Amino acid sequence: MEKLEAALAKAREMRQGALGGPEAPPRSATAKAAAPVSPTWQSLPEVALPEGHAQRYRISALSGGRDAAPYDMLRSRIIRMMKEKGWSRLAVTSPEAGCGKSTVSLNLALSLARQSDLKVMLLDLDLRRPSLHRTLGYNPAKSLHEYLDGSAEFDQCAVRMGENLIVALNVSSSRRPSELLQSQASRDALDAAERRWRPDVVIFDMSPMLASDDNVGFLGNVDCALLIAAAESTTIPNIDICEKEIAQLTNVLGVVLNKCRYADDSVGYDYGTYQ
Ligand SMILES: Nc1ncnc2c1ncn2[C@@H]1O[C@H](COP(=O)(O)OP(=O)(O)OP(=O)(O)O)[C@@H](O)[C@H]1O
Ligand SMILES: [Mg+2]
Repeated sequence: MEKLEAALAKAREMRQGALGGPEAPPRSATAKAAAPVSPTWQSLPEVALPEGHAQRYRISALSGGRDAAPYDMLRSRIIRMMKEKGWSRLAVTSPEAGCGKSTVSLNLALSLARQSDLKVMLLDLDLRRPSLHRTLGYNPAKSLHEYLDGSAEFDQCAVRMGENLIVALNVSSSRRPSELLQSQASRDALDAAERRWRPDVVIFDMSPMLASDDNVGFLGNVDCALLIAAAESTTIPNIDICEKEIAQLTNVLGVVLNKCRYADDSVGYDYGTYQ
């Protein structure tokens, strides 16, 4: 507990530094100010979900329609709130493992990227148990954690899905995820990637809150966070603990209840969508 409190205190300090206090402009605005000309996204290898992966990994937001509707609704709310505040960085986390963070992150990224005017970047920052490379069926030459520690180029761990989405992957876990995520080198590397590729929205697929202090050390670098809870398994006290912890580090955008067996039929109703 003491360790957690110390980590929280350190992260609060970092956040003040990163955000520059309440009077400072949104972090995204400062990151974009000195941006050089964006390289063409076409230079990254393009991947498509292998046959059967959409179903196996529950990726339903590749194209619009009924199955994508819950993610499209989430997208609209998120983008409205983020635009209002001038935010660009969104972390996706959960109290415990397996709540659906990676599934929601990828679907949300795909849904956002279907808007032709939005450039989206999704980073697999679950450096203990990375998974997006398996979902995409693609092993890049290097891992995102190697880009963060300066031993690889961003292009070596990143792929493109369509015109508007870049996904940065890991093929191995990091041996020191917590230290890496708290490091100045990682912060600089993320800023550099954002300046170079100029995404409108960056989504960070994180590790679970209650399993390590990885998020505590990192959430000060994002503008806001979404907490994913699993119906019938995440407890209300755990949601409460995590929400409070996140609120000390960044802005809580909301809690998504995932894995509901008894979904409301009105969600995904075809009105206004196309098949
Ligand atoms: N809405 C859903 N309904 C049923 N199963 C789901 C749902 N969302 C995700 N899953 C399944 O739950 C499992 C865990 O999902 P996922 O890997 O996205 O979770 P995670 O929170 O990222 O896990 P980890 O903490 O290990 O990174 C996967 O098998 C996924 O297909
Ligand atoms: Mg995951």
